[in-house]
Amino acid sequence: MKQDILSVLPGDHPWQNCIYDYDSLPSTNTTAKELAAKGAPEGTVVIAGAQTAGRGRLGRSFHAPEGLGVYLSAVLRPNCKPQELMHLTCCVAEAVCDAVEQAAHLRPQIKWTNDFVVGSKKLGGILTELSVDSTTGLVQWAIVGIGLNCCHQKEDFPAQLQDMATSLAMCGVQLSPAPLAGHMILALHRMRSGLFSQKQTIMDRYKADCMTLGQQVVLLRGDERRYGTALDLTDDGSLIVRFQDGKTETVSSGEISVRGLYGYV
Ligand code: BTN
Repeated sequence: MKQDILSVLPGDHPWQNCIYDYDSLPSTNTTAKELAAKGAPEGTVVIAGAQTAGRGRLGRSFHAPEGLGVYLSAVLRPNCKPQELMHLTCCVAEAVCDAVEQAAHLRPQIKWTNDFVVGSKKLGGILTELSVDSTTGLVQWAIVGIGLNCCHQKEDFPAQLQDMATSLAMCGVQLSPAPLAGHMILALHRMRSGLFSQKQTIMDRYKADCMTLGQQVVLLRGDERRYGTALDLTDDGSLIVRFQDGKTETVSSGEISVRGLYGYV
């Protein structure tokens, strides 16, 4: 797989020498965290042909069968406070949309904050994990993990996902994971260069790709369910929601379901 990834990168790409590829791992994020804790530099990329314990947000699992998707994690080391990285997942989402558009000529939409959607079904997602130095309060490393379904047919998903999930192949695009991973590495490296200097531009583009805006949503926190309308995003990527009781609030965590998606009617 590594050769097919490298063939997409220019010969002098700064991240080309720290790509670790594995046939199978429990989770590329977990391995990237272990490498980062041992001092792996920014731009270290871990990619696996399959994951046996792929992880998603909010403690969920991510289905990652062999050879059917991109399962990739990158180590970033922005030397800043965690509050200054609130927009990171949005920037990664834009990078992945760019990579998919380049490689597959199809631009996914984004369900706030971290899901890729095509035709109201989930194409993939992002899991961002940070470590903060307790003495300095600065970020030691950020791991951005991306899972994207490429070659799955409906029956490759577990029964409970079959009506909610899609893949590039199911959208009519025949593309194997390795070249797409190469395009993701290019796009992530470009995104990292502009993470702070291009923040406003990237966030404007994120807003244009974010299908959640203007939609009826439900905020799920524990047993609580609050219905409202997603109005806008803050500069840091938090969602501004007007709830049914008339209150407008900024939501930065928890789960937002969008009406018409993944079974929410
Ligand atoms: C989500 O759906 O909530 C996010 C899914 C993120 C999955 C990717 S696959 C590569 C990386 N390794 C993991 O264990 N998770 C992320």
